[in-house]
Amino acid sequence: MAKTTNWGIIGLGKIAHKFAQDLTKVKNAHLLAVASSSSGRAQEFANAYGAPHAYGSYEGILDCPDLDVVYVATPHNLHHSNTLLCLQKGIAVLCEKPFAIHAGHAAEMIAMARAQDTFLMEALWTRFLPVTEKTLELIASGAIGEVLSIKADFGFKADFEPRSRLYDPHLGGGALLDIGIYPAFLAQLLLGKPSVIKALAHIGPTGVDEETGVVLQYDSGQMAHLHASIRSKTKTEAFIYGEHGTIHIHTRWHESTGLTLLKPDLRPQDFSFPMQGRGYHYEAQEVIHCLEAGLKESPRWPLASTQALMELLDAIRREAGIVYAEDGV
Ligand SMILES: NC(=O)c1ccc[n+]([C@@H]2O[C@H](COP(=O)([O-])OP(=O)(O)OC[C@H]3O[C@@H](n4cnc5c(N)ncnc54)[C@H](OP(=O)(O)O)[C@@H]3O)[C@@H](O)[C@H]2O)c1
Repeated sequence: MAKTTNWGIIGLGKIAHKFAQDLTKVKNAHLLAVASSSSGRAQEFANAYGAPHAYGSYEGILDCPDLDVVYVATPHNLHHSNTLLCLQKGIAVLCEKPFAIHAGHAAEMIAMARAQDTFLMEALWTRFLPVTEKTLELIASGAIGEVLSIKADFGFKADFEPRSRLYDPHLGGGALLDIGIYPAFLAQLLLGKPSVIKALAHIGPTGVDEETGVVLQYDSGQMAHLHASIRSKTKTEAFIYGEHGTIHIHTRWHESTGLTLLKPDLRPQDFSFPMQGRGYHYEAQEVIHCLEAGLKESPRWPLASTQALMELLDAIRREAGIVYAEDGV
């Protein structure tokens, strides 16, 4: 009989709720413990999702017996310290995106996981969606020929609240790290490491990028055009243009349930992938699969990919002048 995987969650905000809801759909998953830095919130959350253990501090969760993996769902600036906290105790971690504020922190987290021989994965959930798998399959089968360019955006209008996670630089606010990471992820997944990076950002009054535009070029001439905004709603679609056709991932593409294959002289071919939950169960399933197989990282979103993505985000930030206190400049 398959073992039950016992989950913990650190940081009980918006995404923690969504993840906990989806976790109920995952076979052999059990939410065992939750931890909050806010008074009373852990017990409330535990009651809502039937978790037997509630802790009033993040450190507290480390005392929970039989914990297999902790999902770190705090603001970006805390991912590094929260992940190290768990790994030091030998507890596996699924850490929200962006993995860290910069690649240096990411490297430390990965080094700790390796030193402790413990599983670690970035919660880049889009990687595990059926629509992403289908995109990879279509490209591998030659459906659009060689990929020539990618165009992907992600934009929504966030209420301007200077102390909120999206606008406060101390919490890693800004468009690029929060949502620009998705277009950057797609470019990396399909085209690898760019040779040229051009980027511009509009830096708002709190000092974070409210809008960022990126153009990437690759050794063999391919290009990626990426756009992220927290000051306006954009179509949030992805187009992958190939020699013989186009893959259009429907809005909002990072959580999409459908794509269309467009080929000259042929009727558009639609593919749809209805989802029961919001889509977070796919990444949770991947973690469980890896833990059951004794793997220390996911073959589908390995730590080298996480590190490379952080390095790409760092390089875009340097180009666009997006700076955080953690950069130490
Ligand atoms: N994969 C996705 O689709 C997705 C979607 C949204 C967000 N995210 C990621 O998940 C992370 C959390 O995002 P969220 O939208 O859930 O944020 P949120 O609603 O603001 O929740 C973050 C939680 O972190 C804890 N926290 C600790 N120190 C904090 C501080 N100084 N300020 C604010 N919160 C603090 C709080 O939980 P306690 O009070 O319980 O300690 C808070 O509720 C971010 O890194 C984001 O990139 C991912």
